[in-house]
Amino acid sequence: MASPLRSLVEDDERYLKSFQLFLERSSEHQCMQDFIHGKLADELARVGDGKAKLNVIGVGSGAGEIDLEMFSQLRQKHPSLTVDNQVVEPSSQQLHNYKVLVSKTPDLDYINFTWNKMTASEFEQHWKENKMSKKADFIHMIQMLYYVKDPDATVRFFQSLLGKNGKLLIILVSGRSGWDKLWRTYRSQLSSSDISQCVTTSDIKSGLESKAVGYRSYQLPSQLDISECFVEGSEKGELLLDFLTEVLDFSRTAPAELKAGVLEMLRHPDCSVETNGKVLFNNSLEALVLDPLP
Ligand SMILES: C[S@@+](CC[C@H](N)C(=O)[O-])C[C@H]1O[C@@H](n2cnc3c(N)ncnc32)[C@H](O)[C@@H]1O
Repeated sequence: MASPLRSLVEDDERYLKSFQLFLERSSEHQCMQDFIHGKLADELARVGDGKAKLNVIGVGSGAGEIDLEMFSQLRQKHPSLTVDNQVVEPSSQQLHNYKVLVSKTPDLDYINFTWNKMTASEFEQHWKENKMSKKADFIHMIQMLYYVKDPDATVRFFQSLLGKNGKLLIILVSGRSGWDKLWRTYRSQLSSSDISQCVTTSDIKSGLESKAVGYRSYQLPSQLDISECFVEGSEKGELLLDFLTEVLDFSRTAPAELKAGVLEMLRHPDCSVETNGKVLFNNSLEALVLDPLP
């Protein structure tokens, strides 16, 4: 039975507040940066192969910090490059934050930004209606496939846009993370909307393997300090709990039994380690890189 609880994504302001706190309390962006300067750098070196202008699509880019980090890496590999960058992001606040970041970052003249205030499926519809045929060299979907109805179909559509030597990068929480354990146990009680929400790279890999689509996989170890979730009445703890459960005002609206069960699960060794008085949730991510369909 679907949960009667409201989804956090229904409240953009609270979603952003809790996501911001999640970034502050986790090594999420640090592990992505390490990946960008390590394994992804090798992948990006092969993108476009000698082309002077690259077409890039960022889906669910948020405030763009990670996008700009990838551009700086891309620029190092291809110094004379220019970029046409389509940003696909439904949140006006996040688009605004991204634009502010661009205005404050020097030396981005080589990138032409097109701001698409839309969801991935609206972008797909727009693409098809306008019979667009431009091929993309690099597409990334970082921590966003939770918010679409059909993640496998979304991956298929964006992979179909890749040109020769193009790459599609997907980053999601890994099937070995605490998220997977939490969702396996509580998905039906937490998830209320028609979006996928509780999806990990294990689900995406199964979908790809069932269609014999190849991919390369990279592990991004990461932790999230969830200690405040166990401090009764902590405002920050409640915000983090909203992000972890994807439920709006989880602490106030969830039945007591569900709340107790989720809190117990969160500090269970399957999900977290306790060290120096802190509870560190396993936030491991996995990156999948796909080539164009043959
Ligand atoms: C967890 S944040 C990740 C942001 C950024 N990629 C990062 O890793 O820092 C998810 C982003 O996906 C966006 N989003 C939500 N639903 C979406 C959809 N249906 N299509 C595209 N993006 C979506 C949100 O507005 C948000 O900016």
